Amino acid sequence: MAKRKILVTGGAGYIGSHTVVELFNAGYEPIIVDDFRNSQSWIIDRLAQITGESPKVYQIDCSDENSMKAVFNEHSDIFGVIHFAAYKAVGESMNEPVMYYQNNVNSLAVLLKVMKSFKVNHLVFSSSCTVYGEPKHPIVTESTPIQNATSPYGATKIVGEQLLNFTVNASANLKVALLRYFNPIGAHESALIGELPQGVPNNLVPYITQTAKGIREMLTVHGSDYETSDGTCIRDYIHVVDLAKAHVNAISWLLQQENKVCEAFNLGTGKGSTVLEIINTFEEVNDLKLNYKIGPRREGDVVQIWADPSKAKEVLNWQCNYSVKDALLHSWKWEQNIK
Ligand code: NAD
Ligand code: WQD
Repeated sequence: MAKRKILVTGGAGYIGSHTVVELFNAGYEPIIVDDFRNSQSWIIDRLAQITGESPKVYQIDCSDENSMKAVFNEHSDIFGVIHFAAYKAVGESMNEPVMYYQNNVNSLAVLLKVMKSFKVNHLVFSSSCTVYGEPKHPIVTESTPIQNATSPYGATKIVGEQLLNFTVNASANLKVALLRYFNPIGAHESALIGELPQGVPNNLVPYITQTAKGIREMLTVHGSDYETSDGTCIRDYIHVVDLAKAHVNAISWLLQQENKVCEAFNLGTGKGSTVLEIINTFEEVNDLKLNYKIGPRREGDVVQIWADPSKAKEVLNWQCNYSVKDALLHSWKWEQNIK
């Protein structure tokens, strides 16, 4: 039987590349659309090294309608799309709101238009726990209210979810999974693929690994006077390979749906870790000392949030297998292996 083709926008990026591996592992044929604006083309060779299979890659802007139509024309049998392609830096989005709306919202609108004209009815969308803002209760379910966005980046995820809900309502049989990721960390066990931040990392774990490697002098912990167990903020850190596998489960769940649907799923471990716990665990599992200091709070930081992932467990039959320890071990192995 021919393998089902899944179009993966942003498939050369951090989460997309790990998902391409898991799609191959599950017997799908991933087709990548990525213009490498925030990734490296050599990642594609690494994907082939890991899986023994070479994905077809289209180096195009996925908000360019004609280029996207050409891909769908070439592959008339695309079964579904996983849409990762977007800008993702909260701070940058504050300075470049138009750029963020233009890429993140427009690419989704173009994709929906092209999917409709080619009668492709299955879509997985990369959303984020950022839609919950600062929740009243730290553990969030999918029915926790969505807050007003505090950054253009966050707004593009809320608008994206709204656009998808409206489009499903208006459609005959569009099926959509909105995957709300918590904090992805870690790398593939092979250390052949992982996160590749451009410039100074904003996120905690790449900052930690770059500090351990000597690329950054010192990590600053953003605030230690919060009302948490050790005064630092709490997040739900999820191994990127577990996250990637959830996309494969989401595709098979979409396949089982007879009627149109638009459902959100929290993808997290269900456990929160403080910043200091992450630092201590990183030091422990990798047997090293990290250079860090306590600094002031970072503006806009959520104090504490972690997922209730029970819906994803029940409906998608998905759960995390890796621990935070595994993720921090793999992140460090990857950092040392980056060429
Ligand atoms: P990433 O930047 O590593 O990957 C995104 C990929 O999309 C890159 O390879 C980039 O080159 C590509 N891309 C961007 N715009 C494009 C366009 N117009 N045309 C073609 N290619 C384009 O990011 P990631 O961490 O893998 O995130 C993937 C998705 O998950 C994004 O939508 C992001 O908002 C979402 N997300 C990420 C996190 C996180 O912490 N990493 C958390 C929640 C949600
Ligand atoms: C984690 C914790 C920091 C760096 C961001 C986006 C969010 C989502 C995930 C996409 C916080 C602390 C960090 C440092 C530190 N992305 N920290 N020193 O803030 O949860 O969320 O990524 O959707 O939208 O906002 O992740 O990794 O930046 O921070 O102390 O140098 O680490 O204060 O408590 P965050 P993060």
